[in-house]
Formats: sequence, C-alpha cells, structure tokens
Amino acid sequence: MSADPCTYVIFGATGNLSRTKLMPALYHLDAEQRLPEGTRILAIGRRDWDQSQWQAEARGMIEAKAREGIDEAVFQRFNARLHFHQGDIRQEACYEGLAATLASGQFPNNVAFYLAVSPSDFGFVMELLSRNRLFDEEDGWRRAIIEKPFGYDLDSAQSLQRRISHYLSEEQIYRIDHYLGKGTVQNVLVFRFANLLLEPLWNRNFIDHIQITHSEDIGIGSRGDYYNTAGAMRDMLQSHLLQLLTLVAMEPPASMEAESLRDEKVKVLKSIRPIPKEAVHAHAFRAQYAKGSINGEKVPGYLQEAHIPPDSVTETYAAMKLYVDNWRWRGVPFYLRTGKRMARAQSVISICFRHPPLQFFRGTEVSCMNPNWILLGIQPEECIRIEMTIKEPGLEMRTRMSTLDASLRQQHETSHDAYEDLLLDVLTGDRSLFLRFDEVEYAWRIIDPILQTWAVERDYIATYPAGSWGPPESRRLFDKEGQFWRSSLTPECN
Ligand code: BG6
Repeated sequence: MSADPCTYVIFGATGNLSRTKLMPALYHLDAEQRLPEGTRILAIGRRDWDQSQWQAEARGMIEAKAREGIDEAVFQRFNARLHFHQGDIRQEACYEGLAATLASGQFPNNVAFYLAVSPSDFGFVMELLSRNRLFDEEDGWRRAIIEKPFGYDLDSAQSLQRRISHYLSEEQIYRIDHYLGKGTVQNVLVFRFANLLLEPLWNRNFIDHIQITHSEDIGIGSRGDYYNTAGAMRDMLQSHLLQLLTLVAMEPPASMEAESLRDEKVKVLKSIRPIPKEAVHAHAFRAQYAKGSINGEKVPGYLQEAHIPPDSVTETYAAMKLYVDNWRWRGVPFYLRTGKRMARAQSVISICFRHPPLQFFRGTEVSCMNPNWILLGIQPEECIRIEMTIKEPGLEMRTRMSTLDASLRQQHETSHDAYEDLLLDVLTGDRSLFLRFDEVEYAWRIIDPILQTWAVERDYIATYPAGSWGPPESRRLFDKEGQFWRSSLTPECN
C-alpha cells in the first residue's frame, strides 16, 4: 500500500518511548526510503526549545539506537523533517497554537497524532484536539495512536472508549500493542496458515498444552510510579500475552484484512472460560522479586526500588491458566507467565504435544520419551523449532531428542523494530495490527476477576529471588503431573 505525505505529531516527544522507540523507528524508515516525500515530524514539548535544540536532542536519540550508526546523508534528510512546537499539553493554548501551526501550509494535511503520554492524559488530550477541530478530516485524514494501557480495568476502559468515541470514529483510532509489530509474532500467522501439515495437528486431539512466557532480566528501572499501579498482569498479560494467545489459538481468518483478523481474535477472547472469583487462586499466581543477582551482579528487590512504597504487594511476576472453550481447544490449558528480574530475557511460545503410545517400544531400552514440542522463539532468539524423538546411533534401541530448526533470519537480513512496522501501517491506514476496542474490552473481562481479588488481598505476596525463574509454587497452576514451565529453547527432559 502506498502512502501520502503526512505530519507525525508526537505528544511526549522528549519522553522515554519517543527516545528509545519512535524517533529511531522514524529514522530507520527514512533510511529505507519508506517515509513518503514531504513527511514532517512535529514534536510537542514543554521545554523552551527552538528548532535547533530539538534537532540536536533528536540526533542524540538516534545516535543511541541507530542500527548501523548514523548515516549523515540520511540524517540530513531526516533532520529537515523535524519541527518543535512548544506547549503544555494541559493548556488549551497548546492546541490553538498547534492548529495554527498545522494550518500554516508548511505541513501535510494528513496528520497522525501519537499520544506517547501518560494514559491518564489520553481522554483529555483527545478532547482538546477535538475541540480545536484537529480531528476534522476535511482536507486529509486524521488518526490518533494510543499506547497501552487502554484503561486500568474493564470499567475505566469502557469509559475511556465512551469518551473518545465522541471525538473520533473507530477508523481513526490506532490502539497500539507493539507485540503485533514484531516480525516473529506475525510469523505465527504465516507458520500456522501457510503450512498445510500443521493444521490437522493444531487442536485438542494432538496438543497437550500451550505455554506463553515473557521473561525479563531487567527490573522496573525508573518506572516505579507507573509500575506500582499497574503490575505485571496489567502491564504484560492483559495486552501482549493475550494477543499472542489469540494468534496461536484463532481460526484461519477469511483474509489478512484488518476486520477479518480482528473478528477471529475477538472470537478467541470471547471463548475463554471466565474465571470465577472463587477460582482465582487455581488460575492465577502472583509474586514479587526480592533481592538477588543477575549475571553475577547484585540487584535490589522490588521494595527497594525508587518510588515503591515499602508495603507494596504489586506483582512483578504473574502467571495464569486459561481454557479456550471452543471445539478446537476444549480441555487444553494455556499457561501464560511473565516476570521482571528473571533468570533470562526471552519471549517464547511453547506448544507441547501429547505423548505417543509407548507400547510399541516394550522390551527395548526406550522407557521414557519426551513429547514433541514446537517452540516459537520471539526474542531475543527468533526461531521456529520442532522437537522430535530419534534413535541414537548405535546397536541399542535408545532415543534422544533432535530439533528441526526453521531459522527465521539469514545473516544479511536485518531485523526491524516493531514500531517501524506499526508507524508505517498508520501512514498506509492498515489497522490489522492495531487493536479494536472489543479486543481490549474482552481482554479486560478475562483478567478483571483476578485483579479484583488481588486488590483486596493485601497482606501477602510470594517472592522470588531476582535472577531466578520465579517461585516454584506457581507450578500449582499445572493440570497434570508431567507439565512443567518450559524455559529453554533446547530440548528439556522432565
Ligand atoms: C511494555 C511494558 O509494554 O513492554 C514493559 O510496559 C515491558 O514493562 C515491555 O518491558 C516489553 O517489551 P519488549 O518489546 O521489550 O519485549
């Protein structure tokens, strides 16, 4: 899809997201000649900067992240796109000035507003943009990109949606979940729907259970204020991990077109068996990191981090078990877990198949065989692996696990950041990798009972040493003896 020139207006342009993701992504798109001619980037910031100060700041952001260092010719082109609008986003004057700037003839009329601001400001910023007629599409399209979290729970998400739907149509809203922009995540769809041999196996008759793990070795850094009100369940599970689940579990959509794809994802979310409040402990587990060591370096516990109250029971680790009650998945548990300060940083979808009958091998030395696994490594290792049992060379009938590896990237192929893909999709108006409100709503419905239960249980939270794989007690979520958290991309024996 080709794109017309556009103005990217970035609220929160000097913040962390813009610094580490948005500006580098826009630069990389420019380097690949993917930004349409005439595209402008207008940063909104409170600081009393002029154009050249912002340009110098932006250069620093790009220098820190550019994949192959800064290319001066590309940077000159990119630099010419950069503009700064000084203003306080809480003041009406900022929007009046913005409207005048955008109407000055210097900027393309297609405008994407990126709200890289605190979620509590989403409604307010949109209201003021609307009041200043900045969402009117008379001379070009107007789109708003909202970061997660969309709401704090079901109620707040619904009221935010009611509010913003007064200002924009659904077609104008781009709710970002940056996991959908990751190459390997999109590959889940290709892997599933372009390979005929998988489809007959992709169901309850062959699959024992599915795990989705996102672990990080970093702590909460300087995000204490945000994180302590969010916790791992809201921060990762409600959004990114449930999105991964929908891609693994959904029925083949009629096409890759946005609505078909999103219809199928919503069907999965709607089919998830609700967790009654009295069953929360059987389905969810939370914990917090205590001090420990990561890569040989001592690190503090969560309660010692900046801006964290000493009695906080906010979870930095969350795990849950879900059932998708439809024909394909009935009875197959999906185990999801995420944590900060864990042993290793990685995101993996692990699909465990049922055990084959062992009867055939009676009288041989084959006493135990591992089931087949399919491992979809999302990061840092991007891979698709199928684990098979094979015979060991030699005179005895012994077996071992071997891996079929469909590696994703060849050496000369670059990996793109998820934001590059998504920022480009906004330009072309492709919403398939953005969330429709009903997806967000059903995701909140699934986790709301857990959040409500945890919110009143304020006396105790399990802990795990930083640098570990989380508390062993989380194993209580497993349905069967033989199930265990899969943490490695190389064959593991149970
Ligand atoms: C963000 C969360 O949405 O995703 C962070 O707020 C988390 O807490 C991050 O660290 C993980 O994203 P990625 O792309 O680094 O895996």
